[in-house]
Amino acid sequence: MYVCICKKVTDSQIRRAVAEGGVYNMRTLRREVGGCDQCGKCAAEAKRILRSTLEESASFENCATASS
Ligand code: FES
Repeated sequence: MYVCICKKVTDSQIRRAVAEGGVYNMRTLRREVGGCDQCGKCAAEAKRILRSTLEESASFENCATASS
């Protein structure tokens, strides 16, 4: 699904960028993925996806640490 229409950025691209470790806030998202810097209408949704993906990653890491 497109999150940023202006730059054609999808939710999958955002999640992948977070999972690969280079994106951890909106500034790094804009730098690495290249969206959310034109009209700004996508910023709230992009931030929501960014936060939820970061939380999922943290939960996964906590589970992995606890089980090892
Ligand atoms: S929809 Fe993302 S900057 Fe316009």
